[in-house]
Amino acid sequence: MRRFFVAGNWKMNLSRTGTRRLVEDLKARVGGEDRLDLAVAPPFVYLTEAVAAARGSNIKVAAQDVYCEEKGAFTGEISPGMLSDVGCTHVIVGHSERRHVIGETDDLIARKVKAALDAGLKVILCVGELLKEREAGKTNDVVNTQVVRGLFELSPEEMSNVVIAYEPVWAIGTGVTAKPGDANEVQGFIRTLLAEKFGGQLADDTTIQYGGSVKPENAGTLMGQPEVDGALVGGASLQADSFVDIIRNTAKAKKLG
Ligand code: PGA
Repeated sequence: MRRFFVAGNWKMNLSRTGTRRLVEDLKARVGGEDRLDLAVAPPFVYLTEAVAAARGSNIKVAAQDVYCEEKGAFTGEISPGMLSDVGCTHVIVGHSERRHVIGETDDLIARKVKAALDAGLKVILCVGELLKEREAGKTNDVVNTQVVRGLFELSPEEMSNVVIAYEPVWAIGTGVTAKPGDANEVQGFIRTLLAEKFGGQLADDTTIQYGGSVKPENAGTLMGQPEVDGALVGGASLQADSFVDIIRNTAKAKKLG
């Protein structure tokens, strides 16, 4: 059965103390809804702090990136096994800032996805088009390529440990969200692609989040869309009040108890 999932991507923000305080604050205020998973993704150096603070709650800790090799001479990189070792259960792969600021390719992203799954991590694969691609009517082509290249070498079993985050690049950190109907349409298209490759049941069970300027005020309408199964939240996940409101509005929109 499909699960819903709200995750906070903290990017390069907060301190050690700030990480602990925010996790503790969330822990005191959220959790317990059936079928709603929660995660936070602090910077690598604060993962252990977040894992320790989240202990005893159902808040999962995700890394924001990972390398595609298990060990060796890869200065500055972090392996999937290292993430599991410190208590991470999830990892974000292919975030638009990795694709467009750092320059990661679909090939590298696919190798990261596979390596993370091999190490027993759950993957949040981000996909999404640039503004010029949307304006040129190429949204589905771009998303198709990213989904096919990122995921289509996986087995159905591996795919069952993948969450997809549809994040139109022009909506990230800009305060402009996709229209709920547009997000729903692209996410429905992604589900069709998954159905063709992995079968209808797996496609139906896959969690597809929306990301890009999700705020408490728009979370209810976005999460009310049938193809939108949760959110990957950047800026609004850095304050407990706004993140908790997004989580609550998601639970309400999905009619979770
Ligand atoms: P935003 O970021 O909510 O600040 O737009 C979303 C993301 O990058 O995952």
